[in-house]
Parts: sequence; structure tokens; C-alpha cells
Amino acid sequence: MTLNEIAKKMCFKGKGILAADESTGTIAKRFKSINVENLEKNRLHFRQTLFSSSAMKNFIGGVILFDETIKQKTTLGPTIPELISKNGAIPGIKVDKGAKSLAGSSDETITEGLDGLRDRLSEYYDLGARFTKWRAVYKISDRFPSSQSIKSNAHALARYAALVQEAKMVPIIEPEVLMDGSHNIDKCYKVTTNVLNECYNELELHKVDLSGTVLKPNMIIPGSDCKDKSNAQEIAKKTLDCIKKNVPSQVPGIAFLSGGQSEIESSRNLNEINKINDTNFLITFSYGRGLQASALKEFGKDQNNTKNIQNAFNHRAKMNGLSSKGEWSESLEDKSAA
Ligand code: 13P
Repeated sequence: MTLNEIAKKMCFKGKGILAADESTGTIAKRFKSINVENLEKNRLHFRQTLFSSSAMKNFIGGVILFDETIKQKTTLGPTIPELISKNGAIPGIKVDKGAKSLAGSSDETITEGLDGLRDRLSEYYDLGARFTKWRAVYKISDRFPSSQSIKSNAHALARYAALVQEAKMVPIIEPEVLMDGSHNIDKCYKVTTNVLNECYNELELHKVDLSGTVLKPNMIIPGSDCKDKSNAQEIAKKTLDCIKKNVPSQVPGIAFLSGGQSEIESSRNLNEINKINDTNFLITFSYGRGLQASALKEFGKDQNNTKNIQNAFNHRAKMNGLSSKGEWSESLEDKSAA
């Protein structure tokens, strides 16, 4: 498959991406919230349960894994990437080494992981990965993000993307403008515009073939502490407008992160965006919490109740699959849950 074909398969209409690439530290927080010990066998058990679900075939185009997970063997025999491929999705891998304090603007972050990346990519390709992810993080305040943070993170994203394409994989480019803060929706629009512009300047400079990439952006939403709430129609309109103005048309797929929105909110907003999508972009989800929160709760209640854990995951995957076609509605949530 060409890089463009892989990117389109990941974002195929009715499907999206499962972001199961929580680092050991992040999954520790998720497990703590459900009183599960953060042991390798528990991480494997939870993820293997999701990756064996029936939703994988119908609603999941790709799964983003963490370094530990891509190297794990399931208790059923195959390795984790083999299980994912068998169920019809493409295995992918998070390759950044996390957001670290940015020297010169220490309240902001720069994502690290370029050193030795070429060798790690070749290892991941051999393990079955066909796409990768790198996440840059920007926070909004009266001072931030600084142009130092916007420029340095865009530069790193572009160097990462060029190396990934050289290794014959599709880079997911994830510049995440956080929803923490009291800023309004227009501030989010403005910051996201600046961030996307700088990313595409650098990607061009580094000769990245945009037709073999997937963008994973935030939606345009007000900060979580903003007094002025926006409805889904306004969020959809501003998000699509920002994408149309700032993302080159060669990019085949746009897969949003959920970024702390609830499961229902992230389905509703994606659905509204697709209802008015008049572009050629495949617009879908690449959710972590937005796909796994309910399943995680069930795992916390009883780790061995595979049926309940998979039912919860299947339901969210199906709802988001519908949202990727603009066919979701609130009433389907109630019916399906009942
Ligand atoms: P959320 O959907 O929980 O924001 O996770 C997506 C992700 O991969 C963040 O890097």
C-alpha cells in the first residue's frame, strides 16, 4: 500500500482511530481512577480485551500503540500488532518521548524524541507498525503559546514526519492546543490557526508528502473554565472553517483528538462537523478517552467481565463511526445503551 492508501484506510468513512498509546505514567492515572494496579499484565489484559472486540472490524481503521504494547504477545497466541491486523485495523505507534520543559520558556513544553528515531522507526516497522504519532502540546494563557513554542514544536513535528515517511510509514501530526483555561472559543480558533500555519510551513520546508500524512488536531472549543459555553453547531462551524483555511487540500485525513471532552460531547461535535463537511477531507476520530472511558469503568468493576468491557467499547466505537458519517443522534445513545 502507498502512504496515501494507508492514510485513507486509517480514516475510511465510518471508521476512525483508537488512541491506546497512553504512556505507562498516563495509564497509571487512568487505572488509579478505577482502582486497578498499574501492572504490565493488567495493561495487556485491558488492551487485549479492546483489540479483540467486534467493533474493531467495523469501526476502527487504526490503533495507536505504546512502545511496551507493540512488543507484547497476547495470551491468545499472536502478538498485539498481529491481533490488530487480523481484526482488520492497521497497527501504529507513538514515537515521541513526551513533552518536556522548553528551555527559555520553561512553563511551556517541547516534544522530544528525535535522537535515535531513525533506528526506532525501523524496529517498529519490523514489528508491524505502518503509521506513527507525535504529539506537540500548546497551552493557552495571556502569555502562551509563545512563538518560541509554536516554532520549535512545528520544527520537531516536521523532522519527525520526514523521518517517518523515509521509513515508509504514515506520520500522524498532532499539534494539540489544550482546552485547559478560561479562554473563549475565538481565542482557541486564533491560536489553532497560528499553530497549524507554522506546522504546514515546516512540513513543506522538510519536503513531507502531505498526501501521506494524517492531521490529528483539537476541535475549536472554549477553554474548560470559560463562562461562555458553545453549542455543537458553533463548535462544528468554527472547527471546519479553521481546517478549511489552514490545512492544505492534499492532506487526506483529519482525525480529531477528544482532549478531555466527555464521550458524548466528542461524538456529538464530530457528528456536527461531518454534517456540514463540504470538503474532500475524511474527517474522523482518533480518540483515547472518548473511546475508552466507559470500557475502562467496566474494567474497574470486573476485569474478567469481557462481555461488559467489550459491549461498552463496541458501543462507543459504533457511535463514533456514525459521527464520522454525520449519522449519529442522541437517541441512538439511549437505544443502544438500553
Ligand atoms: P484523547 O482523545 O484522550 O485526547 O487522546 C488522544 C491522544 O492520542 C492524545 O495524544
